[in-house]
Amino acid sequence: MKVLVTGGAGYIGSTTAKALEEAGHTPVILDSLLTGPRVFVRDRIFYEGDIADRDLLARVFSEHPDIECTIHMAARIIVPESVELPYEYYRDNVAKSLELFDQLVKLGKPRVLFSSSASLYAMVEDFEVDESSPLDPGSPYARTKRVMEMALTDMAAATDLRAIILRYFNPIGSDPDLESGIYVKEPTHVLGKLVMAAQGQNDAFTITGTDLPTRDGTGIRDYIHVWDLAQAHVAAVESFDKVLEAVQAPSTIINVGTGSGVTVRELVASFERVFGKEVPLREAPPRPGDAVGAFANVDKARDVLGWTANLSIDDGIASALAWGRKRKEILGYD
Ligand SMILES: NC(=O)c1ccc[n+]([C@@H]2O[C@H](COP(=O)([O-])OP(=O)(O)OC[C@H]3O[C@@H](n4cnc5c(N)ncnc54)[C@H](O)[C@@H]3O)[C@@H](O)[C@H]2O)c1
Repeated sequence: MKVLVTGGAGYIGSTTAKALEEAGHTPVILDSLLTGPRVFVRDRIFYEGDIADRDLLARVFSEHPDIECTIHMAARIIVPESVELPYEYYRDNVAKSLELFDQLVKLGKPRVLFSSSASLYAMVEDFEVDESSPLDPGSPYARTKRVMEMALTDMAAATDLRAIILRYFNPIGSDPDLESGIYVKEPTHVLGKLVMAAQGQNDAFTITGTDLPTRDGTGIRDYIHVWDLAQAHVAAVESFDKVLEAVQAPSTIINVGTGSGVTVRELVASFERVFGKEVPLREAPPRPGDAVGAFANVDKARDVLGWTANLSIDDGIASALAWGRKRKEILGYD
């Protein structure tokens, strides 16, 4: 099967492209290289351009009329930047996605898999959230994702568009062959910061928030290996129509996580075990906007998508460390 992957030069998109290939499918990449590195495209079929460029989309589908599904991952994704640049975030994540979806309907290519985020969820008492749990998107970035979920649901109800919306939890690690991974120079996510502290690039790892209402006072997340996340996309494109038949709706939302909550202190303990050394720690109050967190109820992913995560948190940490050692060779910077 041929699959269009927007944002296929990015971290998750390039890993998903590889998982599609390994499952016997052909990814077609559309990416503006706004952030994704050219090298992650490798030798795949590639269109460099914008998701809102309708002429380009028409060309992609006329040159590849056998594309059966679009995985829409292209987006701006940095939460603090979204607070500074709300216009750019709403323009790129919302307005441009609408152009893409409308053009897909017009081109008669209605199957869309959309990358949404667990950052939409409100805090619940036991931290386990299913797809109908309350939402409280806490940043402009998260709100762009929620707006697109609503737009997709409404468009699917009114047009031929069909949508599977995947709410990703917290991806970590690299693809198994270390060909792509986190490429930002200054990691803002917790595992990247742990790697930097462990390698001496920062003097310590700061736990932000130690008095939260979790079992040890630190934030809780559901860390999913990016390779498992990529496999969820393979499952979704392969069973796209069956998934929507099973839920008897033109669109649906599915959590993609491991089903286990891990606190920051537990993550640090796992990291030290895998790394084999202690990491210097510091404690600080939560940063503004930091969420206490959530982990996924994964019943729907198992029952409807037929997918569950296989890799452990230790696998994800080992993979992130291995990518950290390898990435200069691929990216040209540490
Ligand atoms: N990384 C995470 O922790 C996480 C968590 C939940 C959801 N998501 C979602 O998953 C998707 C992929 O995330 P990622 O971590 O791989 O991000 P990424 O930044 O590595 O990839 C996004 C890609 O989209 C491209 N892009 C951006 N705007 C574009 C446009 N207008 N036209 C064409 N290409 C454009 C960028 O160049 C980049 O290659 C995003 O939609 C993100 O919101 C990511």
